[in-house]
Amino acid sequence: MAKNDLNQADPEQVAGNGLLHRRVFLGGGAALLGAGALGLMTARPAVAAPPDIADWMRAPGAPLSGHGQRSRFEDSVQRYVGPPAGGTTGAGSSRTPLEKLSGIITPSSLHFERHHSGIPDIDPGQHQLLIHGLVERPLIFSMEALHRYPMVSRIQFLECSGNSRPNLSAQAPAGSCGEIHGMVSCSEWTGIPLGVLLEEAGVAPQSRWLLAEGADAAAMTRSVPLDKAMDDALIALYQNGEALRPEQGYPLRLFLPGWEGNISVKWLRRIKLTSGPTMTRDETSKYTDLLPSGKSLMFTFPMGVKSVITSPSGGLTMQGPGLYEISGIAWSGAGSVRRVEVSADGGRSWAEAALSEPVLSKALTRFRMAWRWDGGPAVLMSRAIDETGAVQPTRDALLAEKGSQVSYHYHAIQNWQVAENNEVSNVYV
Ligand code: CO
Repeated sequence: MAKNDLNQADPEQVAGNGLLHRRVFLGGGAALLGAGALGLMTARPAVAAPPDIADWMRAPGAPLSGHGQRSRFEDSVQRYVGPPAGGTTGAGSSRTPLEKLSGIITPSSLHFERHHSGIPDIDPGQHQLLIHGLVERPLIFSMEALHRYPMVSRIQFLECSGNSRPNLSAQAPAGSCGEIHGMVSCSEWTGIPLGVLLEEAGVAPQSRWLLAEGADAAAMTRSVPLDKAMDDALIALYQNGEALRPEQGYPLRLFLPGWEGNISVKWLRRIKLTSGPTMTRDETSKYTDLLPSGKSLMFTFPMGVKSVITSPSGGLTMQGPGLYEISGIAWSGAGSVRRVEVSADGGRSWAEAALSEPVLSKALTRFRMAWRWDGGPAVLMSRAIDETGAVQPTRDALLAEKGSQVSYHYHAIQNWQVAENNEVSNVYV
């Protein structure tokens, strides 16, 4: 079909280059418009007889098991494991393969990792949590004691403040969505509100901050304002219904919703209440934001409003012209996502995407947009707006504001170029 014909058959077009109204994917809209006309005929016509009897129907299958595994055909879905930092074995990161997942929950086995000295093998029978410093009663908790407290569950994202750093390169790097943006994941976290334990220890009046220390070989330490600790901080024991994975802090971690991942200290062993920040190695040598003036900002905690299209995305291959669902994730450290807009023409025109329920505060939100690709060049972009009205910036705007030395908190709009040869790649516009 010529492009003009497509447009004529397209009463639902809401923005340039083939973006269609979200009702196309709701309530049988595709059927209403005629799936054939929209190019959704991806199945072959069936013959009258049922399909062949496959081998796996000819004999009983595998037995029951105590702990399940995914299909062997899904083994290629793996984290992108980066090289260890120089001179170390366990310091570095791995990224979630965002383009191979759907919904908003990241499987625990694919949650991104960032370790500063490897993953400790902690015996929960020996692990304890100490709360001391500016408190009325220093307390020490065994894991058994912690498990007796009432718990809460929340679905929330975790993002490394260094996520998306590849897009700081002068030239747009090749890479998949996960390779570029995969240091964000989202889980249901279950645990004890930190404020409950702090109140039990009795917070001294002069206490304003706390020091959180991990039980890894790096003794990872960060300073946390007391306000956040009393607000929505969690001592997390469970992730997606099961005990935390070792690489996510087993047997317990601090979880500070919406804030840069590093401060959600894993393998938590000690909380010391203090009158000010401790200025630890991990918050002075890293996780500070160098400004064009040469000064650095410290304690920049919330992650900015952000989104990325996961499908189609870098390295994926289109299957020729036709109807596609553009799908992606959006999130904000300030609360919930209010709106996501999508462009197929490099930002010249935008249309509002459908947000899939649930839309939760400080969680990934899945968005979807109907798109009929005419086979010509296209640049796909998504732009998130959060409940405070904050708008995800373009790359140019972010670099103009933060300077070329910016290293953390990159949350600019991602552009995916769809080429006539069906290839999808990372571009700057
Ligand atoms: Co920061």
